[in-house]
Amino acid sequence: MPDLACIQELLKKYSQEHLLYFWEDLNDEEKSKLLNQLSSIDFEKIDSLYNSLKTIPIPQGEKLEPLDYFIKNEILVKERRRLENQGTEILKQGQYAVVTMAGGQGTRLGHKGPKGTFELNLSPKKSSLFEILADKIKQANKRYNIQIPWYIMTSETNNKDTISYFESKNYFGYDKNNINFFIQNKLPLVDTSGNILLREPYQVYEASNGNGNLFESLATNNMVLDMKKRGIKWIFVSGIDNILVKVADPIFLALTINNSTEIGAKTIFKKDPYSKDWVFCKKDSKPAMLGYERITEEITNANIDGRFLYREINILCHLFSIDALEKISNIDLPYHRATKKNTYINNEGMKIVPEKPNSYKFETFIFDSFRFFDNITLLRVQEEKEFAPIKDPVGIYSPDTATKLYLKEEFNSK
Ligand code: UTP
Repeated sequence: MPDLACIQELLKKYSQEHLLYFWEDLNDEEKSKLLNQLSSIDFEKIDSLYNSLKTIPIPQGEKLEPLDYFIKNEILVKERRRLENQGTEILKQGQYAVVTMAGGQGTRLGHKGPKGTFELNLSPKKSSLFEILADKIKQANKRYNIQIPWYIMTSETNNKDTISYFESKNYFGYDKNNINFFIQNKLPLVDTSGNILLREPYQVYEASNGNGNLFESLATNNMVLDMKKRGIKWIFVSGIDNILVKVADPIFLALTINNSTEIGAKTIFKKDPYSKDWVFCKKDSKPAMLGYERITEEITNANIDGRFLYREINILCHLFSIDALEKISNIDLPYHRATKKNTYINNEGMKIVPEKPNSYKFETFIFDSFRFFDNITLLRVQEEKEFAPIKDPVGIYSPDTATKLYLKEEFNSK
C-alpha cells in the first residue's frame, strides 16, 4: 500500500487535502482503495490543465481558409452508382472495421448505466442503442458477405456493465470473436475552483478523458495490432448515440479513397448561422474546426454562388486509414475543458446532486487530430437521413425526436 504520509504531502502541495477528509471513517479495504487511486493520479497534470484552461486563448495571425466538401444528394446518379460500386467492391474485400466510442459519461441524458444500454421504443419492439448498432453492422455483413470486426471503446466506469450487457444479450447474435472491448483513459473531475471531486468518501471522481483518447487507447490496448493482423485498411469511427449512422457507406469510402485522403468526415449543413456549432475550416492550410466564438457574421455568410464556405458541422462520423490511426496514436492531442453536471460528495460527507453543471472535465477531441493531415474528405449528408443523436432527455437531440426520425427513415427505405 502506498505511504499515507507521502500522499498527504502530495495533496498538500496541490491543495487537494480534502480528498482525505473521511480517512478516519474508512475501513481497511476502503483506505487501501483510496490510497492506491491517489497514488495513480497525476496531480501536476490536473493542476496545470485547470490553470492553463481557465481562459481560452484566441490564436493570433492564423490563416483561415474554407475546406472543400462534397454534397451527397447532389452527386449525379451515374457518378453515385459508380462510387457505390467502387465502395462495394472495397467493402467486399473485408478490410474494413467499425469502432464505436461508448466511453462517454452521458451526463445530459442521465441514463443509469452505459448509454448504449438505453432503450428506445421502436414499436413493435424495444431496442437499445447497442442493439440498433449491432443490427446495422449485421446488415452490412450480410450485404457485403463479410464479418466486420467491431471495436467498442468503453470507460473504466462502464466497461464491466457494457460487457455484461452484451453477454446477457448473447452479443445480439454477433460473432463474439469479432467484438473487441477496450477501456479508454481517465482523469479526475474538478469543481470550478479546481478542487478534485470525490465520488464516494473512499473514491476520487475520475471519468473518461474525451473521445480524442481513442487513438492512444486503440494502440495501447493492442487494437491497432489486432486490426493489422486482420488486414484492416479502413476504419469507420462513430459515437454510440447517433441511431441513423450508416456504419458502412460505400459512397463515403470511395470518395475518401478517390480524393487521396487518409481521413474523411461526414457533415451536416449548419442551418442556423448563429447556433453554437463549430464548423470545418482550414487553419494554416490544415483541416481544423472553427469554434463558434470565432465565427463572425462575415465568416458565416461567406459563400461562392450560394455555396457556403464555413457551414459544415462535424457529426462524429469518420473514416481513418489504418496508417492514419497509427500516426495519431503517437501524438499528444491538446485538452479542452468541458463543463458537466456531476454528483459528488461534499466536505460534510453529503451526496450533492447538482442542478446545474458544476464540474470541469478535461477532454481531448478527435477533431484535433485533423491538422496532422494535409487534407480531409468532407461529405455533407442529409441530417434527417443520417443524424439523430440522443443527448438530452427532451428537445432536438432527445430519444423522442431520434425515434421519430429513425422510424421515418426505416419506413422510407422499405
Ligand atoms: P458526447 O460529447 O456527447 O459526451 O460524446 P457524452 O459523454 O456521451 O455525453 P454528455 O456530454 O456527458 O451528456 C460523443 C460520443 O463520444 C463518446 C461518447 O460515448 C459518445 O458516443 N465519448 C465521449 C467517449 O467515448 N469518451 C469520452 O471520453 C467522451
